[in-house]
Formats: sequence, C-alpha cells, structure tokens
Amino acid sequence: MKILVTGGAGFIGSNFIRYVLGRGQSYAVVNYDKLTYAGNLANLESIASNPRYQFIKGDICDATGVEAAMAGCDAVVHFAAESHVDRSIYEPAASIETNVKGTFILLQVARKLNLARFVHISTDEVYGDMPPGAFADENSPLQPSSPYSSSKAGSDLLVRSYVRTYGFPALITRSSNNYGPYQFPEKFLPLMITNALDGKPLPIYGDGKQQRDWLHVEDNCRGVLAVLERGRIGEVYNIGGRCEKRNLEVAKLILATLGRPESLIQFVSDRKGHDLRYAINCEKLERELGWRPEIGFDQGLERTITWYRENMPWLDDVRTGQYRDYFQKHYVQREKTFAP
Ligand code: NAD
Ligand code: TYD
Repeated sequence: MKILVTGGAGFIGSNFIRYVLGRGQSYAVVNYDKLTYAGNLANLESIASNPRYQFIKGDICDATGVEAAMAGCDAVVHFAAESHVDRSIYEPAASIETNVKGTFILLQVARKLNLARFVHISTDEVYGDMPPGAFADENSPLQPSSPYSSSKAGSDLLVRSYVRTYGFPALITRSSNNYGPYQFPEKFLPLMITNALDGKPLPIYGDGKQQRDWLHVEDNCRGVLAVLERGRIGEVYNIGGRCEKRNLEVAKLILATLGRPESLIQFVSDRKGHDLRYAINCEKLERELGWRPEIGFDQGLERTITWYRENMPWLDDVRTGQYRDYFQKHYVQREKTFAP
C-alpha cells in the first residue's frame, strides 16, 4: 500500500512514518509537507534514504500540488494541521486555512482519484470541556472552544459529509494529548521537560488544575495504523491513553524525575477560553480493533526525558527563529513577571 502522509515532517506524522516503514515491506510512504515552523526534516533523518520513502514539499491548500503527490497512492493519512491552540488564538486565520480549507482540498482530490481509504487525524479537543467524571464517546456532541479545535471540528464535519454524500471511504481518529520524541517544544510536555533540563521556569497557566489525558505517540501511531488497516469506513475512533493528569502534577513529576526544585514552577496568565478537562472513552477502538495503550506514563515520560536529554543538537536547531519570537511574545512580553 502506498500512503500519502500529509504533515509527515511534524511530531506525530514523523513518528507515524518511522513506525509504518519499520513494519516490513508492505508500505511505501509519500510525505507531503509544507515545512511550516513546526515541520522539520531532521525528524525523519533515520529513514530519509529508505527506497520506500519520498518527500514532497507542498501545501495541502494547493490542489495541483496535492494531485501530483496523491497520484499513484492508495490511501491518505492526513496529519497536516496548524496544531497549537495558543497560536490559533493569536492567528486564527492560519488554522482555518490549513485545517478546514486544506482538508477540503485533500477530500476533493482524493475523491477525484478514487483513493481506497482516507484517515483524517482529528483530536479529542473537538468535544470541548468535559465535566468531572464524564467521558466523550464518538457520538458525543462537538463543542470546540478554541479557533484550533473549532477548525478541527469543521474539518471532521466536512469529512463526515463526504462519507454521507459521496460514499467517500474516510475514517476519523480523535486522540488525546500525544507526547514522545520529536515534539516541538512549544507544547506543554516538551516545554516543561526542556525548561526543567535548562533550569528555567516552568510556565503554568492559571492554577494548573486543568486535566489532560496523555497518550504516548507510539501508541497513537499503532492506533492510527489499526484504523487504516481494519477500521470500518465512515467510523470515528477515539484513541486515548487512559492516563488523566493535572498539568501541575505533570510539571512536578518532571521536576522530581530530573531532581530539580519545585520553585522552578511559575504560574502565568491563563489561556483564553481554556478547556479545563479533556477525557475520552476509547472502548470502541479496544472492542473493534483490539487496540490498547501499552506505554504507561511513568515509562513513557522517562523515555521522553531521555530522548530530549540525548538530542540537544535537535533542540538547539528548533529553538531558534520563530520559536524564540513566539516565546518572547507569549511568555516574556505578555508576562511582566516571567523571568526566563
Ligand atoms: P505538528 O504541528 O507537530 O505538525 C504539523 C505538520 O503539518 C508540520 O510538519 C507542518 O509543516 C505541516 N503543515 C502545516 N500546515 C501545512 C499545510 N498547509 N500543508 C502541508 N503541511 C502542513 O502537529 P502534530 O502535533 O504532529 O499533530 C498532527 C495532527 O494530529 C494534527 O492534525 C493535530 O490536530 C492532530 N492531533 C495532535 C495531538 C497532539 O497532542 N499533538 C493530539 C490530537 C490530535
Ligand atoms: P498544549 O500542549 O498546548 O495542549 P492542548 O492542546 O491540550 O491545550 O497544553 C496542554 C495543557 O498545558 C493545557 O491545559 C495548557 C497547559 N499549558 C501550560 O500550563 N503552560 C504552557 O506553557 C503551555 C504551552 C500549556
């Protein structure tokens, strides 16, 4: 099977490509990526010369480029997105453009070329804030809170409409917060790890009591491949880690693991419209496809910390230019008291 992976130079996409190519000869991958600030070909160095791998630089909003890349492929796994909530609050237009329009272009071209399967990668954030004790299943209402999550919900609904209207062979995954190697350090977990490694403050929004469900990226990749191979067309599958934690608890765990003092924690202004809790029910994926999360949080966190510690040159390369500008704007200038 030849798969067009969109956004394969990002965090989850690059882990997925490595995972798929590592599973024997049955897959070839075309990675189509615009290489935004979040895309990094260094994430794929270990497989760059694999004869079953090809990289094409391109934008999913460009129908001509998409058609050239998709020609000859059997399936699409669509990761490409503007994926950061805080950036989407500053600049909603980029999220709408890539996440909604880009998905629309991909659907149009995939339909024209009669692709056999299209896996759309969505997020648990489309369900919005979950009250204590509640878990969203695949039929729960979509109640997104941020420009990012509403653009993802918009793209989910477009995919759904293509299934219903055109009999288009799409499937959707909605996963919880991924963590693991190669995650851009603007996201919570790598930011906490890398600041702790550097002995810099760990910025916690609000009171830090917000809850997220943590899923190791390899478990997600296994889930996505199971859905690609064996999922039922037209269905949505939640993928979660069964690992709910408060942000403050995670920050303290990282500091304890690295032997750093809790005084590094610094409370900063809360995110606008901050969802307090994401929580999903993943029984459908477990029941239908026999998938379970296999990497426990303690083990996964330790492996992730080790990865960042051993990949300082990678980190130095990504913490330049756009990363520095964003860090200055979001933490240093916005927070009068934040001392990096
Ligand atoms: P990422 O930001 O690390 O990577 C996104 C990739 O998409 C980058 O390589 C970027 O260059 C590329 N891209 C962006 N705009 C593009 C465009 N217009 N055309 C082509 N390529 C473009 O994101 P990620 O964390 O790897 O997330 C991947 C997918 O998984 C996203 O769809 C996201 O919504 C979803 N998701 C992520 C998480 C998470 O915890 N990271 C959780 C649930 C769902
Ligand atoms: P993030 O990694 O942006 O993912 P999500 O899409 O789930 O919001 O943030 C995870 C949680 O961590 C979320 O509750 C916001 C919080 N957070 C902080 O407290 N400080 C930070 O500097 C960042 C980036 C996030």
